Amino acid sequence: MKSAKMNSMQVLKIIEHSAVIPVLTLNESMHALPLAKLLKNCGFNVLEITLRTKAGIESLKLIREHHPDVVLGTGTVLSIEHAEDSIAAGANFLVSPGLNPRVVEHCLSKGYTIIPGVNNPSQIEQGLELGITTFKYFPAVASGGIKMLEAITGPYGRLKFMATGGISQDNLGEYLDSPLITACGGSWMAPSQMIQDQQFSEIHRLCIETKTFLDSRRRS
Ligand code: 3PG
Repeated sequence: MKSAKMNSMQVLKIIEHSAVIPVLTLNESMHALPLAKLLKNCGFNVLEITLRTKAGIESLKLIREHHPDVVLGTGTVLSIEHAEDSIAAGANFLVSPGLNPRVVEHCLSKGYTIIPGVNNPSQIEQGLELGITTFKYFPAVASGGIKMLEAITGPYGRLKFMATGGISQDNLGEYLDSPLITACGGSWMAPSQMIQDQQFSEIHRLCIETKTFLDSRRRS
């Protein structure tokens, strides 16, 4: 199934509004639908499925088919083939851990929303030259966290980053407080092993914890 028609500006706006994106790595696609339903019930309507496992594309297809209202991203997009398979499966946006100019150029030429990963100024400049202004900051914590991001973005204009890699309930607030951060992504609400073990009540608890935190920030 084709992805719902949305341009990059619309997708990036929805990502910004969501503030938090569960990043899901599924070993078996049979977990995709119960998980998507649970996450949606907890108020998470933007989800990212990684291609770290073979079940990624099938999971994406299932969620697209059964939850057409969910905004779906694919993570771990390492090649043009990954990008094309993701879009064909119904992805609205594509995320990669690094910045591969060939993949980025291909996606931009096709009008796909691609968020490439960076963690240094050279990669940011390469992205800017290609026309990217929203990046993934990866791996956020191991790269030096928000202080490092503030330091490396000093010379540039208005850029936005989706921080992922090591984000948890404990440090989420410090990232969301930064004007550089458009959203945070991560597996802390639905870790791969927990999905595999079908610990859905614990996933539900973690999701509600994050959702309650987000709601309290919105109110204050
Ligand atoms: C990933 O690449 O899998 C994501 O960035 C998630 O990282 P995390 O598991 O540290 O949240």
